[in-house]
Amino acid sequence: MKTGTIGRSSNNELLDLIDSTSTRLAKLARDGAPEGTVVFARQQTAGRGRLGRQWVSPPNSGIYVSLLLRPSQSLGELPVITLGIGVAAAKAIFATTGLRVGLKWVNDLVFDGKKLGGILAEMLSGDRQQPALIVGIGINTRFSSEEVPQELKEKMLWLEAATGTPLDTNHLAAELCFQIESIYELMKLGHTDKILDEWRAFSITLGQEIVCTTPVKEIRGTAIDVNSTGALIVKTATGTEELVGGEISIRTASGSYC
Ligand code: BTN
Repeated sequence: MKTGTIGRSSNNELLDLIDSTSTRLAKLARDGAPEGTVVFARQQTAGRGRLGRQWVSPPNSGIYVSLLLRPSQSLGELPVITLGIGVAAAKAIFATTGLRVGLKWVNDLVFDGKKLGGILAEMLSGDRQQPALIVGIGINTRFSSEEVPQELKEKMLWLEAATGTPLDTNHLAAELCFQIESIYELMKLGHTDKILDEWRAFSITLGQEIVCTTPVKEIRGTAIDVNSTGALIVKTATGTEELVGGEISIRTASGSYC
């Protein structure tokens, strides 16, 4: 470990089995765990993804980790932290494996059109004065066929399959903590512009035709930038739209969307 805070708490846990590392860490946070506390698990039985989805988490097939931040920034800046976590994960994967993954807004880790990992950032409810942010990260590492539903197999990718070499999971986990700490330091110093520039450099979203379906409307257009709060700016046929949440699909060369 090369970190000063992240992963240095005596409250850290490495579990063989848990429902969800984020649920577990939320409990530790409510009980007063300090910033930097991390919970890793080898398997999750109720892993949670974005937008209420399940995160399939078979044993020893992925990095399943949640980490606790207690940012002093205004709540408006929190979305930039989550973009920064995506950057940190992409940098950690590159440093460990040499694989350059892309970031699909908000912060899906993508390689070759398939999802390698994702990030779920949740603010602890009832803590609006001093926000506690639970950052859950799932990175697919080793394919385990029996537990992965067919429709996911077509959309997901595992690091070892992408690189063709065995992965040192401990190395990646330590690098992830280090890169997150580095980005978080930038955030604390107010350098959100640097974080956004790094996100732009890893982006596979900007310049692409996208579609975003929200409960009230469908937005189609070209993703042109992220603004200072992390919203995605989309140029549509009638003007520009700012997306602050939800999920986008990107138009591929064949005209389909992924
Ligand atoms: C996404 O939908 O893209 C986000 C997936 C986040 C999954 C991780 S695995 C560790 C942590 N614990 C959870 O229950 N979810 C997150």
